[in-house]
Amino acid sequence: MRNEQLFVDTIVTSPPYNINKEYGVYRDNKERNDYLSWLGLVAQASTSILKEDGSFFLNIAGRPIDPTLPFHVANRFLDFGYTLQNTIHWIKSISFDRDDIGKNNELYENETTSIGHFKPIISDRYLSDLQEYIFHFSKTGNVKLDKLSVGVKYQDKSNIGRWKSATQDKRDRGNVWFIPYPTIQKERPHPAVFPIKLPERCIKLHGIKRNMLVYDPFMGIGSTALACLRLGIDYIGTEIDPQYIKVAEDQISGKMQTYLTRNDIEY
Ligand SMILES: C[S@@+](CC[C@H](N)C(=O)[O-])C[C@H]1O[C@@H](n2cnc3c(N)ncnc32)[C@H](O)[C@@H]1O
Repeated sequence: MRNEQLFVDTIVTSPPYNINKEYGVYRDNKERNDYLSWLGLVAQASTSILKEDGSFFLNIAGRPIDPTLPFHVANRFLDFGYTLQNTIHWIKSISFDRDDIGKNNELYENETTSIGHFKPIISDRYLSDLQEYIFHFSKTGNVKLDKLSVGVKYQDKSNIGRWKSATQDKRDRGNVWFIPYPTIQKERPHPAVFPIKLPERCIKLHGIKRNMLVYDPFMGIGSTALACLRLGIDYIGTEIDPQYIKVAEDQISGKMQTYLTRNDIEY
């Protein structure tokens, strides 16, 4: 029998952030250099399974007292030959002031409109952190993306046809993605999940292809897998914690109501 090498099209993942988060099995408190070397190993190992035209989406955040951590991690990926093709800002909560909104917008009714879950930082030095990074790495920096699959409709329809590229009522969404966190009333099976919409959008942006395979090396309770199920594509995941694997399997098989569905959302 021939041993076929496994290749994946897209990796979407969020590693532990080294912030002492209370996971079940994993201890999230490595010495800084050990942590960076560890994620460097992940970057290195991933290069042998990611296709040449594949995409690696890495979701990571710093903390107000340690804002540079994501960039140090990104540097490790560059050390192992990756190119940072896009930096996406995942906005978890946002507020709009009336002054900044056109009169035709219904948000204009309110002095300020806030959307998303707001977790304040108790500090007189630091602002509350409402964003995370999604670094989009590729091997060449030259991977063609399906930007319009996650595009948005033009507000001003006269743009359609005005530029050569504007052939339909959709434009590039850009690199600022507002994906609010739902407020969860029931007990949380995992302390640090991302919304299913996040991996879903990354996979669509890379482009859905026949027989494609998606991998999440830090699978948690399977948000990336659930995104793949929604999109009808194959996935693999690895996770160190058997409890989380069980939740992931129960969600995937439909035995358990999907965590973070829109029904759970209360803004
Ligand atoms: C930020 S969480 C990922 C959550 C996931 N995105 C979700 O939405 O469910 C990071 C996960 O990495 C897992 N982990 C830590 N070390 C690991 C390892 N060596 N191999 C696989 N998983 C690991 C932790 O148990 C944790 O569930």
